[in-house]
Amino acid sequence: MTITRRQFLVYGGLGVLGAAAAVTVPLSTVDAKSASRLSDRDMPRPYRTAFAQAPVLRPESTGIDPVDGAPVHHYTVTQMASSAAILPRLMTPILAYNGIFPGPTISLERGTKAVLRVRNQLPARHPIDGHVLSTSTHLHGSASLPQFDGYASDVTYQGFKKYYRYDNAQPARTLWYHDHGVHRTSLNVYAGLAAQYHVHDPAERQLLPQGEFDVALTVNDAMFAANGALAYDDHDHSGLWGDVMLVNGRPWPVMQVQKRVYRFRILNASISRSLRPALSTGDPMTVVATDGGLMPVARQVASYRHGGAERYEVLIDFRKYATGQRVELRNLSNRNNVDYDHTNKIMAFDVIDAPVDSSDPTWNTIPTTLASSDVMALTASQSRKTRRFRLKHSDSTNVFTIGSDSWQDVVASGFRKVVANPALDATEIWEFENSSGGWFHPMHIHLVDFQVLSRNGRAPFAYELGPKDTVYVGESETVRLLMRFGPHRGKYMMHCHNLPHEDHDMMVQFSVGLADDAVDANDPMTAAPAVWDDGS
Ligand code: C2O
Ligand code: CU
Ligand code: CU
Repeated sequence: MTITRRQFLVYGGLGVLGAAAAVTVPLSTVDAKSASRLSDRDMPRPYRTAFAQAPVLRPESTGIDPVDGAPVHHYTVTQMASSAAILPRLMTPILAYNGIFPGPTISLERGTKAVLRVRNQLPARHPIDGHVLSTSTHLHGSASLPQFDGYASDVTYQGFKKYYRYDNAQPARTLWYHDHGVHRTSLNVYAGLAAQYHVHDPAERQLLPQGEFDVALTVNDAMFAANGALAYDDHDHSGLWGDVMLVNGRPWPVMQVQKRVYRFRILNASISRSLRPALSTGDPMTVVATDGGLMPVARQVASYRHGGAERYEVLIDFRKYATGQRVELRNLSNRNNVDYDHTNKIMAFDVIDAPVDSSDPTWNTIPTTLASSDVMALTASQSRKTRRFRLKHSDSTNVFTIGSDSWQDVVASGFRKVVANPALDATEIWEFENSSGGWFHPMHIHLVDFQVLSRNGRAPFAYELGPKDTVYVGESETVRLLMRFGPHRGKYMMHCHNLPHEDHDMMVQFSVGLADDAVDANDPMTAAPAVWDDGS
């Protein structure tokens, strides 16, 4: 792709409570060696930082739902400005849940409900471009009611809070919560508003490593200004391509591993970049779970394509490596990413000789048969309707659309306009066609888990034969997806998860089980509004 840089936006360097003024540095040349403007001594180098994970968030209180007797955990996260030690010498201002990036991990059992209080204590305006910091929190991977789904225009302003309710009734999976504020998702997530969320269940507990051997990897790329602030350049909304790869907010970290099997929950939280993870040894990894949890059958891969927002859980078996050996998790990249000197690396594992607890059967087990699920049991013959969506870009307006629709059309319609209206529990096939060679689009459908039926008329990749909610629609690809719409009625978003595309303006909505003139009891704009945050 051609890079045309008109401007390079940076945090103003005014500290964590910095004012709105963005600094615009005109750039006339393209420097393919680095995107950051850090001096040599401030630039991080691969494999100099110890690996760490985000802390697990404790519930503030627990209770019982009086209606159905289910356990309920009450959590709070506060969206706030803070700064992070990402670079060797400079601090980086961020906007983050509880002031840390990635935000705290929420971890609970299937069937335990969560009430998440999200407090917006952000500065009034975003330090990069000055937009008003109103937010909407989406739990990506959850079949939430519309009013708790992070509907983009259902925003919470500074000084307000919103209570989000999640049933966690679906099978175990790796989810993530992130900002979804209307037309500003890209800048808000990039600034740090993203975190993992894990739901456990007995099937997954029995089959896969737990505890310290169940490891969250939130991977994203970033670029930095000379003062250590995050820089933002989305190449006219094509995508942001950072030159620094972060895992859990640390550049190319090194993790010490025992000689046993580990489980990694890999989330690509990049706002644009896609990954192609591979081990430096050439050995395969075993993919055991996709966005919506366990696959029917484990799949061995030497590498796989991993778009933004997708989650893949992989097992890596370190038993065969020598003490002291370093195994790198590399990134082979994909078409239409912009790569730099070190974007071909993600992190490294140093094999140590610590005693292994062999009473835990997952220590040396790579399971083959995993678990069936409702979505993977669906067959195409159950589909009542096939809908087709073309993924488009207009050169004249520089707007990305789904068909001819954008979120601006949804706003202009008073949130009425929908691109599809499946009945509750209807099974349908949705097809996405990306006829362009210039972009890939990770397409995400809210509410549902889907099964990938085909790509360009052929079988999907082996590693995506599991429950999914985001699918990589590569250049000149057409994918067919099979899904059942439920368990809730209401309006839900569908969009590209390259977040500059989403914001400009590749997002639409569909309704489930709503007649045209029906009153929508779950109207996301009115059913559960944010309230003034008096501190209680
Ligand atoms: Cu991860 Cu609609 O988003
Ligand atoms: Cu989602
Ligand atoms: Cu896109």
